[in-house]
Formats: sequence, structure tokens, C-alpha cells
Amino acid sequence: MHKPKVFVTRLIDKDALDMIAQETEMEVWPDDAPPSPQILRERARDVDGLLTNIMDRVDGDLLDAAPQLKVVSQIAVGVDNIDMAEATRRGIPVGYTPGVLSKATADLTFALMMAAARRVVETERWVRAGNWKLAHHPMYWLGPDVSESTIGIIGMGQIGLEMAKRAVGFDMKVLYYSRTRKEHEEELYHMDYVDLSTLLRDSDFVTLHVPLTPETRHLIGERELAMMKPTGILINVSRGPVVDQKALYKALKEGWIGAAALDVTDPEPIPPGDSLLTLDNVIVTPHIGSAGARTRKNVCLLAASNLLAGLKGERLVQCRNPEVYGSR
Ligand code: NAP
Ligand code: GLV
Repeated sequence: MHKPKVFVTRLIDKDALDMIAQETEMEVWPDDAPPSPQILRERARDVDGLLTNIMDRVDGDLLDAAPQLKVVSQIAVGVDNIDMAEATRRGIPVGYTPGVLSKATADLTFALMMAAARRVVETERWVRAGNWKLAHHPMYWLGPDVSESTIGIIGMGQIGLEMAKRAVGFDMKVLYYSRTRKEHEEELYHMDYVDLSTLLRDSDFVTLHVPLTPETRHLIGERELAMMKPTGILINVSRGPVVDQKALYKALKEGWIGAAALDVTDPEPIPPGDSLLTLDNVIVTPHIGSAGARTRKNVCLLAASNLLAGLKGERLVQCRNPEVYGSR
């Protein structure tokens, strides 16, 4: 029997690959670095399905080069690398992986928040450099308390909500700003819905959980950073371009805010010579928000399920553009 042809743009979890291989003629890109746009276009020419990663550009040119394409399955919740309008215009469903990674991503956000507040990375570097000569001093290495402080969550979606749950456990006051007010969740987690300026002014910690869209690009720039407390800490686990990094450098260098922790940067990877990396009050991790081992397996399995459903013409388990199904 003729099997559909698929191209998987990165080595992923073995069980997910086995699942795909049972039902398809599968090619997996073997390198750690992504295929170039040209190679991706070549591979896409005769495939029925693509399993993509956030580093792959899925645009009109690629979709034009793939006349048989029935489904794109993205191994991430963010789809800013995909031209959704072009996929939808062609009736191609785009799978993504919401929910299964929310807890792991919130865990990492919390880890960064606590590390930045309590200066974990900075002091660890200092110890390794041989500087720990005096056993203890009551006034050294102070940083803002996390418990009983105020957190401002921007983007109250699935990850934002996991942040709110964790914050309640730390007796924090929770403020949030999102496109849509969530009255039910407000009651559950004792959160206050505020406008962006109020959130920035009143929060000790500001965490970002919006998707990257034209509206959220540089959502946090000079104006917004200037509104934050001088002790305030910004944590970005969404997408790098949500923050204007030049403005962030200025804000950190000139003491407008206390510290920042970034799991995402603009560009990625952050160049080793980037001025942000010269500052002690910055933590940068290499886009590891959802990198819990169990979580990543579940992400891969969900992406595989989306791919296989799309190949069979079935509704995807998690579809980012359900409008392709019309009123079906
Ligand atoms: P989600 O459930 O869709 O939540 C996103 C929230 O942002 C929604 O509540 C949404 O709107 C709100 N929003 C959208 N545009 C907005 C705007 N212009 N202003 C204010 N709020 C806006 O997505 P999620 O699963 O929480 O993931 C969020 C993002 O995190 C992803 O898109 C991805 O970029 C990033 N992410 C990063 C990592 C990592 O490894 N660092 C891992 C996973 C995800 P409503 O208020 O209307 O609901
Ligand atoms: C990771 O960045 C994701 O969007 O899932």
C-alpha cells in the first residue's frame, strides 16, 4: 500500500519517530543544525507532511514548493516561524503543542525568577572565581524576596495560568494583563486584572507569556521599562522580540530596573559579544522553557499524532488554524 511521505526537520523522541515511521515513508533531517530554506524547499517538493521546529521558516515560498502538502505539524506551541495566513489560505492545517508544555515552561520561569531575585547565578560565578573568603556577612548579597511580593503576569494563557498557580503557593499578590479578561480564573487564583502600565508600576516581578505577533513585538520597550520599579525584575520566556533588547540593556545598565532573566533572545542564539552578557544582573538560558524530559517526550508524541491525523485527513488533535475545517 502507498504510504504518505513525510519530512521531519530534526531528530526527535524515538517513540514519536517510531509512531510516524509505522505509517509513513519518513525522512528525518540528521543534523543538529536545521536544514537551510533551500534544502527544506527541496525536501518539501513531494511530501504529504512536514514536522517542523521553531527554527524552520514555513512561508509562502515553502508552501508553494510543496504541492502535495496536507499538514504541517509544529513541535512547539509558538508558531511565529509559520506564515499562518498562507497555510490557512491553502487549507493546510497546522498542528502545534499547547498545554503539554505549560507546567514545565512555568517551572523554568519560576526558576529564573528566583535565581534572578536571590542572585543564584551571580553568586555561584563569584564562588567559582575563588572570591568566597569571608564565611558570612549579614548584609552581603541581598536580593528581593520572592514570597509575599507582587508578580505581574503578561499573557494569561496556559503558561500564564500555571505561573499564577505557582505564585499563589508563594503567597504572592498576582496582577495580570492579557488581551482578554479571565474572570473565572481571577476568582480561582485571587488575581487582579490591570492595565499594562499599572502592572509594570506595581509589580516586583514581571513575567512575559504572550505569543510573538505584530502586536506583541517590542511590547516591552524604553517606555515600559521606565515604568517598572528600580528593584523590578523582568523575566522573558515568550519570544525574544517581545522585548526591545537595546532598551533592556539601557534599563539594566542605568538602574531603571533591578535585573532580567531571559530564556529567549533576539536573535537566537544571542551573540557571545552581546552587551547584555557583560552585565551581572542578567541571566540568559538557551531557550529551554519546555525542556523537561517527560514534557519533551509528550510534546514529540503530540506532534506525531497531529502529523498522522493530518495525513489521514482527520481533524488534528491540536490545530492552530481550525478555520481550515470550515463548519465541518
Ligand atoms: P496561550 O495559551 O495562547 O497564551 C498566550 C496568551 O497571551 C493568551 O492568553 C493571549 O490572549 C495573550 N495575548 C495574545 N496577544 C496578546 C496581546 N497583544 N496583549 C496581551 N495579551 C495577549 O499560549 P501559551 O501556551 O501560554 O504560550 C505562550 C507563548 O510562550 C508561546 O506563544 C511561545 O511563544 C512561548 N513559549 C516559550 C517557551 C520557551 O521554551 N521559552 C515554551 C513554550 C512557550 P487572551 O488574553 O485573549 O487569551
Ligand atoms: C517553545 O518555544 C514553544 O513555543 O513551544
